[in-house]
Amino acid sequence: MSALFQPLNLGAILLKHRVVMAPLTRLRSQQPDDVPHGLNAEYYGQRASDGGLIITEATDTSEQARGYPGAPGIYTADQVRGWQGVTEAVHAKQGFIFSQIWHTGRISHSSMQPGGRLPGAPSAVVAAGNHMDRQGNVVPFETPRALTLGEIEEIIGDFRKAAEHALAAGFDGVEIHSANGYLIDQFLQDHTNRREDAYGGSIENRTQFLLEIVEQVTGVFGHDRVGVRIAPWGVSADIRDSDPQALFSHVSVELGKRKLAYLHIVEPRANQRSDTNALDPNAPDASSRFKGLFGGPVIAAGGFTQETAESVIHARHADAVAFGRLFIANPDLPDRFRMGGPLNPYDRATFYGGDARGYTDYPYLDTATPDSSPKTVTPQ
Ligand SMILES: Cc1cc2nc3c(=O)[nH]c(=O)nc-3n(C[C@H](O)[C@H](O)[C@H](O)COP(=O)(O)O)c2cc1C
Repeated sequence: MSALFQPLNLGAILLKHRVVMAPLTRLRSQQPDDVPHGLNAEYYGQRASDGGLIITEATDTSEQARGYPGAPGIYTADQVRGWQGVTEAVHAKQGFIFSQIWHTGRISHSSMQPGGRLPGAPSAVVAAGNHMDRQGNVVPFETPRALTLGEIEEIIGDFRKAAEHALAAGFDGVEIHSANGYLIDQFLQDHTNRREDAYGGSIENRTQFLLEIVEQVTGVFGHDRVGVRIAPWGVSADIRDSDPQALFSHVSVELGKRKLAYLHIVEPRANQRSDTNALDPNAPDASSRFKGLFGGPVIAAGGFTQETAESVIHARHADAVAFGRLFIANPDLPDRFRMGGPLNPYDRATFYGGDARGYTDYPYLDTATPDSSPKTVTPQ
């Protein structure tokens, strides 16, 4: 029997199936104010399904949180109104939708920061490589400023306000983005956190920032409508830690005590830039290591196919699976899995930015022709 099509209690919501849409940055909000608009509502509405869960793209909690031109925000009245259109489109199909909220920390650029200041981070440690500026030009990363205690308090407050706005916009819950090398992950991991105050040093101290955000966000939504995404052993955005097993064990135990709706774990075996489908057979299996410590429902993500998703749930290493690239290309992914239908291949060139092309024009199963829809997705 299919494990993916069994119902699942995820905190306060009852899913009818376990095929979750992963958070996917698509950089198509209305400019210049980062407002979600009709095209975004259409995209999410297409991917909604009865009793299915969508997690939105990472959404800025403040102007200072921004790190990518075109990413949406949830800190102005216009943005909240824009998100209302999105949640209505998903609810019209009896789907659920959580808002993934973030702060990019050092993965930003002064051209996107208020007053043109340097991006803020736990410590002044520059990320290797290049980023993009407000105009989308490729630029080297800048060395961030270390945030003051006052600024940290403000950022935690911004997460609370973002949760209040998400509630006002009609979201069913919030996912706190603590993965992939962004600000919360920068606090967790010791390569980027060199602080010597209450937010740095020991694992307990480095976890403090996340837990204070969790407290604020659960104060708005309730513990059973809040999830957290982590990426143990992740290397995105030049992140690393000297002891991921100990760090993420502590994180899982602490989040478990708070009885959250779910813990969302990105598997390190998947290529972190998602630019190939190859999996690293030697990478540690994160969901199985942390599920027991967390104690509640786990969503696993990263390079899953329908088949491997079925097995990870059967093995009880996860309760649901989030699909990223497959959901970009297949608006009706749960139906395709249910019916054993062919999958549309995705077009990498249209992942980030642009218009309806590669966004809302992927065909549904009934309009797909066998020739244009190979059974397996090929890396592009
Ligand atoms: C275009 C694109 C955008 C992404 N944006 C986000 C994001 O906003 N937040 C996040 O936590 N992960 C993001 N990810 C990671 C995905 O959620 C997912 O973990 C990754 O694609 C691996 O899953 P897959 O193999 O099913 O695609 C993104 C991935 C891709 C390909």
